[in-house]
Amino acid sequence: MAKTSRQKILFIDDIPALCEEMVDTLRGEHLDAESNLSPLDAIPKVVQGDYDLVITGLVIAELGGFDIIRRIRGAGCRVPIIMVTGFGTEQSAIEAARLGVADYLTKPIERKELVARVRRVLVEHAPAVPERPKSLARMISGDAKMNAIFEKVKTIAPTESRVLILGETGCGKQLLAHAIHQQSKRSKEPYVEVNCAAIPANLLESELFGHEEGAFTGASKRRVGRFETAGKGTIFLDEIGELSFDLQSKLLHVLDSGKFTRVGGNNDLKSHARLVSATNRDLSKEVAQGRFRADLYYRLNVISIELPPLRERPGDIGILAQHFMNQFVTDGRQPPTFTTSAVDMMKVYPWPGNVRELQNFAEQLAVLHQGPRIEVTDLPSRIVQHALGVPHASPTESAERIPFRKAKDQFEKEYLLKVIQDANGNLAEGARLADMDRGQFYRLAKRHGLTTNSDL
Ligand SMILES: Nc1ncnc2c1ncn2[C@@H]1O[C@H](COP(=O)(O)OP(=O)(O)OP(=O)(O)O)[C@@H](O)[C@H]1O
Ligand SMILES: [Mg+2]
Repeated sequence: MAKTSRQKILFIDDIPALCEEMVDTLRGEHLDAESNLSPLDAIPKVVQGDYDLVITGLVIAELGGFDIIRRIRGAGCRVPIIMVTGFGTEQSAIEAARLGVADYLTKPIERKELVARVRRVLVEHAPAVPERPKSLARMISGDAKMNAIFEKVKTIAPTESRVLILGETGCGKQLLAHAIHQQSKRSKEPYVEVNCAAIPANLLESELFGHEEGAFTGASKRRVGRFETAGKGTIFLDEIGELSFDLQSKLLHVLDSGKFTRVGGNNDLKSHARLVSATNRDLSKEVAQGRFRADLYYRLNVISIELPPLRERPGDIGILAQHFMNQFVTDGRQPPTFTTSAVDMMKVYPWPGNVRELQNFAEQLAVLHQGPRIEVTDLPSRIVQHALGVPHASPTESAERIPFRKAKDQFEKEYLLKVIQDANGNLAEGARLADMDRGQFYRLAKRHGLTTNSDL
């Protein structure tokens, strides 16, 4: 759970006794709180990111609570705000909800209840990154499946065995291949990458094995191929599934005999490089369908590592997003942090482009986002829409008669979606709007796939 003790709270009200009471109550609970009697003095400090939570009264002579919120939001600041009032009406509760307050409290309110609600808002808006991600060379991860892969790599990297890396596009195959080299006994030797899909088929043989002068039209001088350059290091053949049949046979020969010849040459050259290969195709299926040689497949696949897609690594979403954000903010600003609610919503999105898509998303936010926090409302609509689902016809309007249980389920989901949308994706606020117990609301949202927060 996030630490709440270092998050700073500001209470705004123009009655000194109220300020004193609020600050004493919060400090008494080890919360870092201060007060300001003047909204006009406080707002610029709030907007520049000095506080993690603002608590404001409603009736203040200099500037009323609603205007305070409008000014803070108008300046693009998304700090969570709690409104506390002794003058609460239904109308003001609705207006506060419309302005997206994190909580709305009417007096009298017990100290215990006040502190509990303040803590809850702090936790929900706390930076979401867990404390100690694991790393392997340039890869990082906070997900158990990936950590198990890191351990496997540490075991197999120092051996001489060939490795085949499988996984969808953008999930880190290239980075993993390099990590294997770096963790191996060959790390001081060359590391050579060849993308088999990026080189035209008629040039790939010469790229891999080199050619002699005059071997073909345009071969004006001898060229050393990648196997030779790799020497006693590692050669990484990316997109191996794209190799033509002809080259599959030639590669098989190299793997069996440990020798190759330059195109147009007669001399056998010895290959000492360790081979690591990768593909986003299902190679066993390619073999079954006759598109990839079975004998080559078995020789490449001595050790296989299957990288799971990002949607199956929920523990990685927050860590990687923050990692990339920190990398992309290079102008001396403090990089903005993702809130727990934002990361929860990102976990529901399927990330078809995997880590590369997350990286691009973080880069865009790093350039465009102002302010210290990335909230649910800062996420692009494709992510929010996905988490909130696509609205469908109401079960009662449907022509088809469906079982009661299914209709109830549909209604529940639709109702929750609407409430969560009205609450800008904030589940706690959603529970309040629905007048439901928070735990019950969270459980229901989770059952309908509207949140994946594993702590619930
Ligand atoms: N665990 C990770 N930690 C840090 N960065 C990562 C991680 N995984 C992937 N990346 C980054 O994400 C991007 C995509 O990774 P990479 O190129 O290794 O994927 P790939 O599986 O080879 O993709 P493709 O199939 O499209 O070639 C790269 O910029 C890489 O540095
Ligand atoms: Mg790649």
